[in-house]
Amino acid sequence: MTLCRYWRLDRHPEGNTEFARFLSLHEEQCPALAAGEVRIAVEWLSMDAGTRMWMSPRTDGYQPPLPLGAKMVGLVLGRVIASADPAYPEGALVRGFGQWANVATVVPALTGLEIVDETVADPRQHFGALGMNAWTAYVGVKEVAAVQPGEWLAVSAAAGATGSLACQVGRNLGARVIGIAGGAEKCRYLTEELGVEIAIDYRGEDVEARLAQVTGGVNAFFDNVGGPILDAVLPNMAHYGRVAVCGMIAGYDTDAPLPGPARFDQVLMRRLRIEGFFIPDFLERGAEFMPQLRAWLDAGTLAVRFDETQGLENVLAAYERMLTGRSTGKVVVRL
Ligand SMILES: NC(=O)c1ccc[n+]([C@@H]2O[C@H](COP(=O)([O-])OP(=O)(O)OC[C@H]3O[C@@H](n4cnc5c(N)ncnc54)[C@H](OP(=O)(O)O)[C@@H]3O)[C@@H](O)[C@H]2O)c1
Repeated sequence: MTLCRYWRLDRHPEGNTEFARFLSLHEEQCPALAAGEVRIAVEWLSMDAGTRMWMSPRTDGYQPPLPLGAKMVGLVLGRVIASADPAYPEGALVRGFGQWANVATVVPALTGLEIVDETVADPRQHFGALGMNAWTAYVGVKEVAAVQPGEWLAVSAAAGATGSLACQVGRNLGARVIGIAGGAEKCRYLTEELGVEIAIDYRGEDVEARLAQVTGGVNAFFDNVGGPILDAVLPNMAHYGRVAVCGMIAGYDTDAPLPGPARFDQVLMRRLRIEGFFIPDFLERGAEFMPQLRAWLDAGTLAVRFDETQGLENVLAAYERMLTGRSTGKVVVRL
């Protein structure tokens, strides 16, 4: 029998701290595998801001809320240890939506499970330059924000997992990149390591005033934050600019909808297009994105800084660090 240790959602969290008040660690014998299921010995867990929405009781989110008492859901990378689906044989290295657990049990068709390329030297890159944050950055920058060479691309939460990849995708496509992040250290990372031309510390600077100095205005905005940052960018967009709404982390610490934008008038004044997108809708196109992402990774033009934590028992600390801006780059937990 296989023992499964997992994090259970007991109550809906309030805020983005003290998650131990709302989730608890449990242990059980894994039940017998049901038809079509695949069991994975988890080696790495991905910490993703979007999963905070799953903990909320809101029924108007992008998927139904996770029921209280359920195992917490998250992206996992690990090896198949038992399989009732011949497409995922024992021993295969796989990635998909599983559980915050040492052993995850999934139905492949429902969880985006896929066998990953074992020639990648650093397995963390399956959550980094080759993972869903990278797909999000690629689709958001190239297709939704439709950035063109020479245009200004602004990115919020720019030093985080998705944002740091969006900055580099934009730079690789020939855009001039403006990164907005919290703190001088993150701004240095943006300019010195990611090729960002203008870095704005939203905690210490007036974002709207800094953007007002951008010649010609912002052509494309990859927004991970919403709220006051979106309000600071909208009046500084160029005419016919595009806003790719990737995330609204400014509202993930409450169950109330994020108000605004207060400067919605600028959508008309500047003839803007605003479009939300959700990467699970694009999972079937993953294979199409991979050759370009892999080429950039191998060429060193899509780099990821990893923030690594060890041990299932430390997942909540890693998750909180990511949500509260104390991490840079991609937060992963090694089991
Ligand atoms: N649409 C999709 O399919 C999709 C897919 C993946 C991710 N996302 C979105 O991408 C965003 C980033 O997610 P991630 O997993 O890559 O996490 P991440 O960027 O690595 O970490 C979150 C970052 O957000 C910033 N932040 C937190 N609260 C903020 C606030 N109130 N105002 C401004 N910045 C704040 C923090 O950086 P600072 O220190 O700079 O504040 C923090 O490091 C989220 O909004 C997520 O929902 C969307």
